[in-house]
Amino acid sequence: MQMQMLLLGCTSSFTLSPCVSLSPSLSPHPNPNPFLLSRPSFTPIPLRSNQPLSLSKSLPSPNATNLFVAASAKAEPLKVIISGAPASGKGTQCELITQKYGLVHISAGDLLRAEIANASQNGKLAKEYMEKGQLVPNEIVVMMVKERLLQPDSQQRGWLLDGYPRSSSQAAALEDYGIRPDVFILLDVSEDILVERVVGRRLDPLTGKIYHLKYSPPENDEIASRLTQRFDDTEEKVKLRLCTHHENVDDVLSVYKDITVKVNGNVAKENVFAQIDAALTHVAEQRKVNSGSLAA
Ligand code: AP5
Repeated sequence: MQMQMLLLGCTSSFTLSPCVSLSPSLSPHPNPNPFLLSRPSFTPIPLRSNQPLSLSKSLPSPNATNLFVAASAKAEPLKVIISGAPASGKGTQCELITQKYGLVHISAGDLLRAEIANASQNGKLAKEYMEKGQLVPNEIVVMMVKERLLQPDSQQRGWLLDGYPRSSSQAAALEDYGIRPDVFILLDVSEDILVERVVGRRLDPLTGKIYHLKYSPPENDEIASRLTQRFDDTEEKVKLRLCTHHENVDDVLSVYKDITVKVNGNVAKENVFAQIDAALTHVAEQRKVNSGSLAA
């Protein structure tokens, strides 16, 4: 599918605004074929603009897990936002991140689908917007996400917020509540790949696991026979969802530009995770250094 076809009927710019680069030497490595990427590539931004960030450009070390455990023993739990276009791989990466880091995964889309499954009033209203690929009104989404963020498990283990905020007003609501992430991960994926991922996506209603008919096929026939497809996972609807995404993404990015890590999401999920893992490990280390210097 050519990108031009996707843009049909969408009035806003489709270009992701680039993150502020810490230094030219840390910019992503150019790669004409993203599927051939063989090493992690990300653009780190310091936690706060007045805190210098020194980041090794090497591959994540085999001791990355140990580094995190050591760091998290002294620092506050991590707070992470993951963002990206529809089907950029947010949910897939959230599975991998929570497995390693133990954060509470809070997906705005999943919370809304739970409301729909419960046939609540909010769920009925939300579905009308989701069918059109539009943002569900803030009256429904903002409190729902805020309440989940403030629950004890999120506060104790840290959180991984997926699919929120999607507009400047949603970002402002978080800031007003004093809720700010340590890092904002942006998955950058080309438009033609997004469509292929949407139409091939399947979900296991028993385990919640995300599959793709081509890239992450089910392990056996029993699982394959029970897989379902989301009601908004059609080529037609993803075009609408992409329009909505591009209308809002710049506003959201501007709120978090000082803590954004842009990740190449075009590559295999393990390689995407390697980039995120390196970034989160670095953030955890940086927090440890900062908390140590505060205590001294
Ligand atoms: P939501 O459910 O959040 O949908 P989305 O943002 O469109 O993102 P997806 O869940 O479709 O994709 P994903 O990035 O998680 O990709 P995945 O990992 O599954 O929102 C749905 C709707 O709810 C919105 O349209 C809106 O109406 C409403 N809504 C949600 N949040 C809202 C908010 N804050 N405010 C208002 N309204 C809101 O991967 C996709 C596929 O690709 C899978 O099959 C996977 O196996 C495959 N895949 C993943 N990574 C790779 C890889 N690296 N290589 C190959 N295949 C891969």
